[in-house]
Amino acid sequence: MTGSERNKGVRRDRCGRRCVVMTTAPSASGGRREPDLSGQTVVVIGASSGIGRETARQVRVGGGQVILVGRNPERLRQAAAELDPVATAAFDATDPDRLQGFFADLPGQVDHVMVTAGGPPYMPLATMDLAAARRALDEHLALTLGVALHSRDRVRAGGTLLFIGGTGGRRPGAGMAVVGALTGALPALVANLALELAPIRVNLIAPGFVDTPLSASLLGDQLDARREELRSTLPIRRVVGPDDVAALAVHLMRNEALTGATYDVDGGQQLIAP
Ligand SMILES: NC(=O)c1ccc[n+]([C@@H]2O[C@H](COP(=O)([O-])OP(=O)(O)OC[C@H]3O[C@@H](n4cnc5c(N)ncnc54)[C@H](OP(=O)(O)O)[C@@H]3O)[C@@H](O)[C@H]2O)c1
Repeated sequence: MTGSERNKGVRRDRCGRRCVVMTTAPSASGGRREPDLSGQTVVVIGASSGIGRETARQVRVGGGQVILVGRNPERLRQAAAELDPVATAAFDATDPDRLQGFFADLPGQVDHVMVTAGGPPYMPLATMDLAAARRALDEHLALTLGVALHSRDRVRAGGTLLFIGGTGGRRPGAGMAVVGALTGALPALVANLALELAPIRVNLIAPGFVDTPLSASLLGDQLDARREELRSTLPIRRVVGPDDVAALAVHLMRNEALTGATYDVDGGQQLIAP
């Protein structure tokens, strides 16, 4: 190896081939190169648990700053103790006045906003409360529109708004009417917002099953059986975790060619029988 090669981090493998050694630290999830988000600030709405919390963690590992939002102040405090955010805000993001006030009060521009607040409104028609169904539709769509409306002067050009849909709602089934309608609507909403908000980018992440506290609360004592079933049936032969979704979110923040699209991260779940 030459002196100049050593300085550039060039090494030779066992067969004498030249290879460049990554100087960035490996991630906790097993050697994936950590992204560089140095100097960037990311707002995560839904940051005290699951996908949002893991995304905030990966942003911090990548050198970025985070602003954390969730409803429960104690859960938010616990996340803040781990993630050392520049700010936290405890409020219900589906409250339009609180949402508007939050963005108006940001001290300056941010680079990205990710929204993971809210859960899937599974509602069988037989037991459906129409007012609750209307509220769920309104809250999910109005939250997306509200974030777009109130963040547009707050996000820098080239930054991204990230929303979460899902792949499960693409398959019709009992109890899936409201989830299915939202699943169909969100990609259209995001594509239109990407044009209206340009050069801010707008993207949608569509996970299948993700092993988070939300999934645990929905499945209860069926959780382990579901994990086992997915391990044996998914094409990737393992369960998708919040770190997988967070890695996609961070990539969407960094890659400035990506806007107006929906990115599936379900380990191939939509390709197999439910
Ligand atoms: N897990 C999955 O399998 C899966 C699959 C597809 C899509 N998704 C979607 O991905 C998103 C995140 O899921 P997750 O599994 O990470 O859920 P999670 O573990 O329950 O985390 C949700 C986070 O959002 C916060 N939150 C919820 N509603 C809020 C609101 N109205 N205002 C402000 N913060 C709110 C929660 O904190 P507080 O409760 O304290 O507010 C929590 O920090 C959800 O929209 C979910 O529907 C999840």
